[in-house]
Amino acid sequence: MKFVRFIMRNAALASAPKHIEHFSKFSPSPLSMKQFLDFGSINACEKTSFVFLRQELPVRLSNIMKEINLLPDKLLSTPSVQTVCSWYVQSLMEILEFLDKNPDDHYVLGEFVDTLFTIRNRHNDVVRTMAEGLIEYKEAFAPDRTTNQNIQYFLDRFYTSRISIRMLINQHTLIFNGNTNPVHPSTIGSIDPQCRVEDVVQDAFLCAKKVCDQHYHHSPDLQMQEMNNKKRNHPVSIVYVPSHLYHMLFELFKNAMRATVETHGGRGRLPPVRVMVSLGGEDMSIKVSDRGGGVPFRKTENLFSYMYSTAPTPQLRDHSQVPLAGFGYGLPISRLYARYFQGDLQLFSMEGHGTDAVIFLKALSTDSIERLPVYNKTALRNYTVSHEADDWCVPSKEPLDLSTFKVAK
Ligand SMILES: Nc1ncnc2c1ncn2[C@@H]1O[C@H](COP(=O)(O)OP(=O)(O)OP(=O)(O)O)[C@@H](O)[C@H]1O
Ligand SMILES: [Mg+2]
Repeated sequence: MKFVRFIMRNAALASAPKHIEHFSKFSPSPLSMKQFLDFGSINACEKTSFVFLRQELPVRLSNIMKEINLLPDKLLSTPSVQTVCSWYVQSLMEILEFLDKNPDDHYVLGEFVDTLFTIRNRHNDVVRTMAEGLIEYKEAFAPDRTTNQNIQYFLDRFYTSRISIRMLINQHTLIFNGNTNPVHPSTIGSIDPQCRVEDVVQDAFLCAKKVCDQHYHHSPDLQMQEMNNKKRNHPVSIVYVPSHLYHMLFELFKNAMRATVETHGGRGRLPPVRVMVSLGGEDMSIKVSDRGGGVPFRKTENLFSYMYSTAPTPQLRDHSQVPLAGFGYGLPISRLYARYFQGDLQLFSMEGHGTDAVIFLKALSTDSIERLPVYNKTALRNYTVSHEADDWCVPSKEPLDLSTFKVAK
């Protein structure tokens, strides 16, 4: 019996490329925050959600799996990246088993929720494992500029795809597992229709402070200001996923605190981290300002690179402690969260003084629509384009000897 199951599983895995080819021909369907809410409120229908997901999840998985195959061979063949690939294939095949099942059968719907739980847990360590693959690759080969750009382009799309897949899975499992959230009964899945921004700022700040205290035995305080330009003197709230907002703020606070403590030393009063929240007609913006000495302008774009961090690389496979700074993924992943619902995250730094990090989110739920990667000719071209010589002159390192240009008299 075990042997038969083994043969069947391998036969199914062997057919994976055919399925990936098929589903990658469809474009993912981005959902708006409003559609997410509709799926989970008065119109909640488990059957509709099931029928949507058993098609949409394979489409999103296959689109990104096509791109994984475009990574440089030496990166693709690292054990870590191979492990990630095997998780994707396995999860895809598990969802495909539901394609011909009856949506009216309650047993099938229950089984689907269980499968989604299994898939979500399987993929918990994707970011860390991928980061480990990158370190293995970086240590063995010195990647050139083109390869670095391709990896950056890929990882931005890969992690966005992952955020979106987890969003779909979380919504379905949270809404249809039969329980309401005991802490926040008004949330719809992972979305809070009235997410109080100040509360999330406070939560994230306290947690970052705890991590900072563990490392430096010292940490700056918070000064917060809110401007609600829609309803004066009311707290700012938006329709959003609090865990996404928390993630971004926690990362920004850890960075601001590390810079502050390292610039001002471990003693005396530290300049506070200041937060300004502003709600307008179109944007809800949060500015986190520190006086941690800033970063040179030349380096600011590097800070969003997956290949860059000024912190020592954390010990691989050391899951025991939360590092204050580690893989250098804090900023790039936070920016993806902001961009996922059409927002952004930008850094403005003044070297010698400090840094302002600003999160821009959409104030209206109708503007918050998923931003998803799609595998198509344009994407393919971005991987194959070779970056030729720069079309701006490279200044010579040595001062030019003008005497050689002297005109003979
Ligand atoms: N507020 C800031 N002030 C000064 N430098 C900063 C600030 N924010 C980020 N940086 C610089 O940008 C780099 C990248 O930040 P990022 O958060 O992406 O990674 P990290 O903090 O090194 O590691 P982690 O993945 O744990 O966040 C940091 O190592 C730091 O040098
Ligand atoms: Mg960081």
